[in-house]
Amino acid sequence: MSEKKYNVAVAGATGAVGNQMISCLEEMKFPVKSIKFLASQRSVGRMLRFQGDLIAVEELTEKSFKGMDIALFSAGGSTSEKFAPLAAAQGCVVIDNSSAWRMDPLVPLVVPEVNSSAIAQHTAKGIIANPNCSTIQMVVPLNPIHKRYGIKRIVVSTYQAVSGTGKKAIFELFDQTRALMNFLDHEKRVYPHQIAFNCLPHIDSFLENGYTKEEMKMVNETRKILEDDTIGVTATTVRVPVFYGHSESVNIETKEAVSAQEVRLLLEKTPGVKVVDDPAKNAYPLAIDAAGQDLTLVGRIRKDESIANGINMWIVADNIRKGAATNAVQIAQVLCQEYL
Ligand code: A2P
Repeated sequence: MSEKKYNVAVAGATGAVGNQMISCLEEMKFPVKSIKFLASQRSVGRMLRFQGDLIAVEELTEKSFKGMDIALFSAGGSTSEKFAPLAAAQGCVVIDNSSAWRMDPLVPLVVPEVNSSAIAQHTAKGIIANPNCSTIQMVVPLNPIHKRYGIKRIVVSTYQAVSGTGKKAIFELFDQTRALMNFLDHEKRVYPHQIAFNCLPHIDSFLENGYTKEEMKMVNETRKILEDDTIGVTATTVRVPVFYGHSESVNIETKEAVSAQEVRLLLEKTPGVKVVDDPAKNAYPLAIDAAGQDLTLVGRIRKDESIANGINMWIVADNIRKGAATNAVQIAQVLCQEYL
């Protein structure tokens, strides 16, 4: 990385992803000249730590971005819709974790291991979109398979952690679990049903086609990132009572024949991927192992015996890190190294 340093703002700094963005900037030794923490009026005055210093959270306003070079946003879709263009108009490049800009044809949607060259298009609107967490961890291992063997169709079912919904959902799982274990009444504030000891086949709102928005994000974002609209994708996204780490059962059909061993060897060489696949030793990816680190774990790689060219696998990653904050800071690193 060059010696140049940057003025960085984190919008949504008090949230689950925003907080992790701050830690990632520290851990990844991002060249920060100054840092600003932004959130809603509710959080004004809260102190957050960065590199040993305590910094007061400020209210996110139109004036927040004056003099800023980069803003990492994770404060919800409507906040991004309103403030990302205002930040960009002041010369600050926005890396946005919400779904607000992802499918805008003028906004690059980036997973650095897959399509970092798309970052060049940040000049169009001054905004770069960070993909959906479930999509990021799926395309990291599928990209090299697609490049080498061509993927025709993907069938994915997710098992998603509550942290993906934000900090209120983390407390909801904790509170419901504690209440139920103590035979007490419990409240539902975030999800429409009890999440403790349950699975909800419902993430984000339902659409007219019967899918949820989360499911259609996986369809559309996968095609945009892999730059191939011909890939068939069908998804079922499920919220499970896990705090950190999304798991995915992924079935792919390839154009060319490929064996499970060939996939294993290819993934062992893929940056950002760790193959954990030794069933004889009960070794396969687990959410509790993925949590707290940045690799995408892949295992249970096996032939789908029901079709000619099919492979099944189990993909797990920390949804707050690689699925959100780490990916955003990795984008910021490439942006600085190559464009700013
Ligand atoms: P706050 O803590 O002040 O509510 P999470 O996804 O974990 O729920 O976090 C959402 C983040 O987005 C928090 O930092 C939250 O700040 C911030 N946020 C939510 N709404 C707004 C808003 N209208 N303006 C600025 N920040 C917002």
